[in-house]
Amino acid sequence: MNRRKFLQAGTSVAIGALAASRLAFGADAEIVVSPGEPGELISPHIYGHFIEHLGGVIYDGVWVGPDSRIPNVKGIRKQFVDDMKRIGAPNLRWPGGCFADGYHWRDGIGKASSRPRTYNFWQRRMPAGTDSTETNQFGIHEFMQLCRLIGAEPYVAANVGSGTPAEFHDLVSYCNAPAGTLSLADERAANGAPQPFNVQYWGVGNESWGCGGMMRPDEYAAKYRQFVTQFPTYKEPFLIATGPRGHSADGDIGWTSGFFEGMRGFELPNGFSIHFYTDLRPTPLKAADFNQPEWYEVLLRGIRIDKVIESHWQEMGKFDTKRRTKLVVDEWGVWYKPGEELAPNYILSQPITLRDAIHTGLTFDIFNRHAEKIAMANVAQTVNCIHSLFLAHGAEFVRTPVYYVFEMYRWHMGARQVPVANPVADLNVPVLAGQARLPGLSASASIRERTLAVTLTNPSVQSPLKTRLRLAGGARVKEARGTVITHEDMTATNTFADPGKVRTVPLAVNLSSDAVELTLPKQAVAMVQCDLT
Ligand code: AHR
Repeated sequence: MNRRKFLQAGTSVAIGALAASRLAFGADAEIVVSPGEPGELISPHIYGHFIEHLGGVIYDGVWVGPDSRIPNVKGIRKQFVDDMKRIGAPNLRWPGGCFADGYHWRDGIGKASSRPRTYNFWQRRMPAGTDSTETNQFGIHEFMQLCRLIGAEPYVAANVGSGTPAEFHDLVSYCNAPAGTLSLADERAANGAPQPFNVQYWGVGNESWGCGGMMRPDEYAAKYRQFVTQFPTYKEPFLIATGPRGHSADGDIGWTSGFFEGMRGFELPNGFSIHFYTDLRPTPLKAADFNQPEWYEVLLRGIRIDKVIESHWQEMGKFDTKRRTKLVVDEWGVWYKPGEELAPNYILSQPITLRDAIHTGLTFDIFNRHAEKIAMANVAQTVNCIHSLFLAHGAEFVRTPVYYVFEMYRWHMGARQVPVANPVADLNVPVLAGQARLPGLSASASIRERTLAVTLTNPSVQSPLKTRLRLAGGARVKEARGTVITHEDMTATNTFADPGKVRTVPLAVNLSSDAVELTLPKQAVAMVQCDLT
């Protein structure tokens, strides 16, 4: 059954009521957007980033060194900086990940040639005969330089697993104490940065239930309290506690209740981290080569994040009745099993296809719709690792299809969420275990001043979707523009040899008095911007 027939066969009252307005354009779907009812601000930090000392992420992806022939700004890959600026990257999380709980920040300061070589957590995952000794050439100063170049807020994950509260507090003071106060501020100045870094976002550990210390939630709550009690408040911090492994089969609700139980009577953190990977590692699915059931399997698993966000938020509300603590989804992305790496020692790198771009659109719409709950989210990871926007190897560099979705969605950053009524019926799709239902269209919208932005994802590999965006409440469109990312081949990707295969192109839109009409191609993510009268 094609999509139009499927919709016609549906019993939805809402769809029946649309029949009259559909006549002129023959739309499959009418989406009703209400720009006159702006809701929550979509935190710009939802479109955030993450880089870790792992495989080819920092060394090569970001840091090529000042003596490299690869164009760089004081050692930082220039193309990376330029592209991160283009998408308005709001923040950058560093140095891990699992690496963070083994990292001692003093190893990464001072004269580069005198810095020690140290053990890297990821050594255990490196192919036999390869080495991941940490050279510490990229430390806190280089990280801050990168953030400044991009215009991103630094988000530093502190070492709780093998560090001490004192080490953490010294790092905070080193970063934030005003010039001429503490000896740590003098030391920072001697290392080239007289002015404080003013870091606001601090992660108190990472995955403390796993690589960050194998703790139980009550144990972590006690550590958290210990680590933050004497926090040097040169700048009012946004403290982020370790949250659950959201992609666990049971959603890991026990971690959330256990942590908040352990925090009863104490000041709650500003942020509570959730990690949610669309984790295909236990399956035979490949990143680059797949069929239709495998396309839908990934998308279906990916949208599970919606319920995971909702359920943890509900759980937190039982303890945090004043809603002090917001969610920070500081690792998310599609993670395929090993075997398709860019190079053997670039562990956790994988090809990124149109399927991952569609997954990104679905995820961002979910984040936008949960704007009141989410303070920040960080893709894992920005370059050469898991759900990357970029792949880099020596002089070669390419933007993946995921990059273009970030570029499109940047318009939502800091705008106000707008209600969308999306009556499109579910698709009945093939997946690994047979058939499943997947929402037939994903949408979210926001408004800034007089510009309305609507993002739409059509997950179908079969049918385009003739879509009518109707504006409720008497709003009128003066001008509209569309952009879309799609490709005829669902496995399409960008490579060093063919970097422009999957990218955004203009999408035709027609204006009528209170509506915008467009044909959303199959397997596509689109953005429609409407200037209102
Ligand atoms: O992003 C890769 C790893 O995934 C991170 O280091 C860790 O936090 C997570 O398990």
